Amino acid sequence: FTSQPYPLESPNPSYSDEEYADVDWDSLGFGLMATDYMYITKCCEGQHFEEGQLSRYGNIELSPAAGVLNYGQGLFEGTKAYRKENGRVLLFRPEQNAIRMKIGAERMCMASPSIEHFVHALKQTVLANKRWIPPPGKGSLYLRPLLLGTGPVLGLAPAPEYTFLIYASPVRNYFKEGSAPLNLHVEENFDRASRRGTGNVKTISNYAPVLMAQTTAKKRGFSDVLYLDSATKKNLEEVSSCNIFIAKGKCIATPATNGTILSGITRKSVIEIAGDLGYQVEERAVGVDELIEADEVFCTGTAVGVAPVGSITYQDKR
Ligand code: COI
Repeated sequence: FTSQPYPLESPNPSYSDEEYADVDWDSLGFGLMATDYMYITKCCEGQHFEEGQLSRYGNIELSPAAGVLNYGQGLFEGTKAYRKENGRVLLFRPEQNAIRMKIGAERMCMASPSIEHFVHALKQTVLANKRWIPPPGKGSLYLRPLLLGTGPVLGLAPAPEYTFLIYASPVRNYFKEGSAPLNLHVEENFDRASRRGTGNVKTISNYAPVLMAQTTAKKRGFSDVLYLDSATKKNLEEVSSCNIFIAKGKCIATPATNGTILSGITRKSVIEIAGDLGYQVEERAVGVDELIEADEVFCTGTAVGVAPVGSITYQDKR
């Protein structure tokens, strides 16, 4: 987009008109770099989110009894803005993130912003932080929308107030491997999600539990962990931070989103593009044994992009 369809809420006189922030764009990884502004709005349970505003990026104040701190009532999203050679800024399917947040909010008993509000807020955040969007081909501005139960609760119940916030950070490759193939370890001691649980929603509470397996695998030299389904331990689910695909000839397969797998927006895009390119695309149970026969394996995710997999270690066999 080249101009915002809505006026900025509070046109800020201190917006920098520099084209680029002072960043060494060639050494960007996937670490937090504080940018200028964040978007923030609140609403009480049962009400609509107010229009919201941009404020300087910084800490937020929370009640110690906030629902998100005590009971993990929180969701996050991830999407990216890219700068193109012609000066335009592109957002990657932001309405898909808005829809996913809405679905997640229903599951977590939270109020959520409308699709229009979500996209409008994203655009405002990008425009306010435009100088932090890397030059074309050098990365993107990662946008992290958060929906948090910030009202105080002591007994287990939905929070009485919610905060919708978006912050941004310039990023490039997610894995330290850069664009080199990943080495994954198939996790058998821990499950990521269980049937009828919350594996399909982007709740913050799905992510801390993977840290133990991920940390152990990283110490052993792996890039990340590949999870199996908790019921049979025979089928692939997803990697801690991304979805997985296998390719064999003109067929690509990926685990079906049956409630335990995050329905990734990059996953969805790859499915659509591969279909258009004439691949047979299968969303189904993908057996761990199919990895042996696969021609290629790759991961997809907003942060990760599309990442090739070089090796997978399962039951000590690489
Ligand atoms: C993303 O891909 O945007 C995510 O939210 C995954 C996260 C673990 C970095």
